Amino acid sequence: MNNVMICVSTRQKRFKRRTHVTIQVLFICLISFLTLKIVYYTDQTCHEDKCQLTRESKVNVFTQSNVIFPNEVTIGLSMLASSIDLDVGNEVSHVAFLKVHKAASSTAQNIFLRFGWTRNLSFVLSSAKTKFGYSSVISNNESLTKFNILPTPKNKSFDILCHHVIYNKLAFDYFLPNDTIYIGILREPYEQYKSALNYFRPSYIFRNIQGDFPASSYIRDPLKYEPRSIFTSWTNNRQALEFGFPMHLFSKFNTSEVNLILQKLASEFRLVIISDQMEESIILMRRYLHWSMKDVVFLNKNVAINKKESTLVQSNDPQFYRQWAKLDYALYEFFLRRLRAQIQDQGPDFDDELILFKEVRKNTSIFCLNNPKKDDILPINKSKWSGPFNITWEDCQLLTMEGIPFVQIIGKRQYGSLDM
Ligand SMILES: *[C@@H]1O[C@H](CO)[C@@H](O)[C@H](O)[C@H]1NC(C)=O
Ligand SMILES: *[C@@H]1O[C@H](CO)[C@@H](O)[C@H](O)[C@H]1NC(C)=O
Ligand SMILES: *[C@@H]1O[C@H](CO)[C@@H](O)[C@H](O)[C@H]1NC(C)=O
Ligand SMILES: *[C@@H]1O[C@H](CO)[C@@H](O)[C@H](O)[C@H]1NC(C)=O
Ligand SMILES: *[C@@H]1O[C@H](CO)[C@@H](O)[C@H](O)[C@H]1NC(C)=O
Ligand SMILES: *[C@@H]1O[C@H](CO)[C@@H](O)[C@H](O)[C@H]1NC(C)=O
Ligand SMILES: *[C@@H]1O[C@H](CO)[C@@H](O)[C@H](O)[C@H]1NC(C)=O
Ligand SMILES: *[C@@H]1O[C@H](CO)[C@@H](O)[C@H](O)[C@H]1NC(C)=O
Repeated sequence: MNNVMICVSTRQKRFKRRTHVTIQVLFICLISFLTLKIVYYTDQTCHEDKCQLTRESKVNVFTQSNVIFPNEVTIGLSMLASSIDLDVGNEVSHVAFLKVHKAASSTAQNIFLRFGWTRNLSFVLSSAKTKFGYSSVISNNESLTKFNILPTPKNKSFDILCHHVIYNKLAFDYFLPNDTIYIGILREPYEQYKSALNYFRPSYIFRNIQGDFPASSYIRDPLKYEPRSIFTSWTNNRQALEFGFPMHLFSKFNTSEVNLILQKLASEFRLVIISDQMEESIILMRRYLHWSMKDVVFLNKNVAINKKESTLVQSNDPQFYRQWAKLDYALYEFFLRRLRAQIQDQGPDFDDELILFKEVRKNTSIFCLNNPKKDDILPINKSKWSGPFNITWEDCQLLTMEGIPFVQIIGKRQYGSLDM
């Protein structure tokens, strides 16, 4: 708890320092500001039935005839992966990013925040308030509703969603433009589990279980310790939970139904980033969204500094975890396979772009983490995949900005006030 408080107050200080930056950044945005589609929303109210989660509803979108089971999935997947199109002028500006907890999603989120910020796009923001102002969590237990998000800014529709919320296709469709591209993220389940243990230190494990290795006791008999509501658990197939899997599958795994849901998700999500292959995933995303290389450069974020993970788990835990986290493994393995098929579909120049991207990222990290002065510039030469661009001091400010201060400057610009 203390660590969290310290971390939080330094963030707050840093944020104060950065509000000066905000003004300058605003001017830069004016320059890079391209087009803004103004869509008039005549119907602002949400039909209750449409916004509520339909967790228990059966997935019946696919008929038996077009079911592709995971073992045979490669054939089906190459159809889902489209061909290369590097037309950057045609960039996608309506994006829903499903930000899954402890899946390295803050690193990816920074890309969406920067993209929208530099183009003055509007973000779906949480209606919840924290002591900083705007919250970066929309909900940990439900999908988008008219109650948990702020209304669209005047005369605008939402462009980008990239804050924590539970996925539900109907709810997302209701609030986002009909040409929104869906991007998800997943992490290797055992890594995600260790990270969740380390970050949340769930009380149903660390307070309720005695002994030196509470998490090891937990994973040997999780049902004995799980909280009553699955939504308050951070360790019960949390990734599948946030991807909107129906409740009954958590108590009883059903292979054929899981396969149907995976097919449905594959048809809805253009890309699911696999955070263990972040750079590969981000290059694919750049190509699918027709974004520039500069748009997708990222620095590693929200990475636990004092990892105590090794003290949390013992050597047999992974086997027990695999038994318990069947949904998360099914989800992860399915989308890992799909990512590989999508990469394969890109052809040999994908690897060349990957090498260049790694180098650009490395140079950008060195430049930004080395206290650049305001008029310092890191020039990046033109390549097959990118025009020439400069990384500036302002870019570094945005690249290193944490999610919490970033949502404050966005909220302030979008609604004209830090207090909402
Ligand atoms: C961004 O949009 C807001 C309205 O939502 C407008 O007031 C502001 O001037 C715009 N800023 C830039 C830099 O275009
Ligand atoms: C979801 O979480 C919020 C905030 O913690 C709480 O107020 C609300 O009652 C919860 N909703 C459900 C359906 O559990
Ligand atoms: C919003 O649209 C209405 C109707 O076209 C217009 O009268 C009004 O000036 C617009 N407001 C802003 C802030 O652009
Ligand atoms: C998508 O939304 C746009 C703008 O609101 C509308 O003009 C268009 O007809 C819609 N397309 C479909 C397929 O619903
Ligand atoms: C598993 O799901 C399938 C497809 O939804 C359904 O037909 C079947 O009855 C389910 N099996 C069990 C044991 O619940
Ligand atoms: C990265 O920096 C190194 C050392 O300054 C330089 O040789 C290399 O060309 C740079 N790479 C790119 C892509 O700019
Ligand atoms: C960029 O290109 C220029 C001109 O071709 C060259 O002189 C320079 O060394 C290149 N810079 C890097 C970092 O590769
Ligand atoms: C990069 O910065 C230099 C120096 O300010 C400028 O001359 C050049 O046009 C910039 N390049 C791009 C692509 O913006």
